Amino acid sequence: MNGLDTILTKQDLNGDDLVYLLGLQGMQKAQLFEHAASVKASEVGNVVYFRGLIEFSNICEKNCFYCGIRKDNKNFQRYNLSDESILAAAVFAHKNNFASIVLQGGELSSAMFTKRITQLLQKIHKATEGALRVTLSLGEQPKEVFQEWYDAGAHRYLLRVESSNPNLYRKIHPQNPKHRFENRLQSLNDLKDTGYQVGTGVMIGLPFQTPEDLANDILFMRDFGIDMVGMGPYIEHSDTQLYKYRGLLMPQEERFQLSLKMIALLRMVMPKINIASATALQAIDKLGREKALKVGANVIMPNITPGAHRDDYLLYENKPCTEDSADDCKNCLEVRVALSGNTIGYGSWGDSIHFQQRDK
Ligand code: 5AD
Ligand code: SF4
Ligand code: FES
Repeated sequence: MNGLDTILTKQDLNGDDLVYLLGLQGMQKAQLFEHAASVKASEVGNVVYFRGLIEFSNICEKNCFYCGIRKDNKNFQRYNLSDESILAAAVFAHKNNFASIVLQGGELSSAMFTKRITQLLQKIHKATEGALRVTLSLGEQPKEVFQEWYDAGAHRYLLRVESSNPNLYRKIHPQNPKHRFENRLQSLNDLKDTGYQVGTGVMIGLPFQTPEDLANDILFMRDFGIDMVGMGPYIEHSDTQLYKYRGLLMPQEERFQLSLKMIALLRMVMPKINIASATALQAIDKLGREKALKVGANVIMPNITPGAHRDDYLLYENKPCTEDSADDCKNCLEVRVALSGNTIGYGSWGDSIHFQQRDK
């Protein structure tokens, strides 16, 4: 056994181990990826679950410093799909045996918005005979709102912590009550208490971020007992405040490789969770999402957003699939998943095994 073999087979990786493993290059990096692939195969199998992604509105009340659709960016068109188009997308997912959808939109909080989502969930349930698992990705909300949406049929929620380091979190968000790290944590806890399968994630390669931060992100996910993770490279956007720090960034290819290492390590630390192969991976590398499936990810989100607005949901530059249709993304990802040596879990909810096994 060499030194790397010894670390890879350790039961509990600590922060120092993770920092060391994040720095691997060449043959040693390949060995890490192989190890993570074997953990994936034995713990969750080489099956990839589809989640039809509906980016139904890019209207957002927040001003995150990294995000292209933040409130104060006036250089693109805002849209808000009708309930009918959203329902049509949900029906597309159901007919194509996806079994799950994700409703994603900018963060809004108002009684009207809460009610709209509740009614939408009820309509989706009716139109698809309750066959779809619905995930929401609608930002921080009061606990009562999480409960209302849970009761209306949403059982999974994605809320990225973005960075588990409060100081870094402060550097990438405005300093005001709408962007408090503590609120983000409170929401994650509220989601867990309400009974959701809880998903989080971070951006990788942010300005000011260190390898220690990333190691701590993984430990944060472990200690919180998260059920699902979607994490990917940070990609600069010229209409955002962080753009001025682009000189501090590592090259995109390095951010990409670091993201693959994060996915591999998370699979080793949390073998039974669901890990998404983030779309942002494909913005850097044409085969980015396949590569993530090979080193530990087991979920992929075909974009099924209908209509002409796909290119208005530009969180970051070079976002893929903006000119494609729901059918295009489905067909394209079928090929990509096959190339990665996985099969698609059509017709199966693919709930997080970690969630099924944890104390509720
Ligand atoms: N690069 C990568 N990911 C981004 N997100 C927002 N802006 C960027 C960017 N510039 C991610 C955030 C958010 C998710 C919806 O998109 O992590 O939670
Ligand atoms: Fe809004 Fe989310 Fe973008 Fe922040 S990251 S500005 S909450 S859409
Ligand atoms: Fe959307 Fe390839 S995944 S076109």
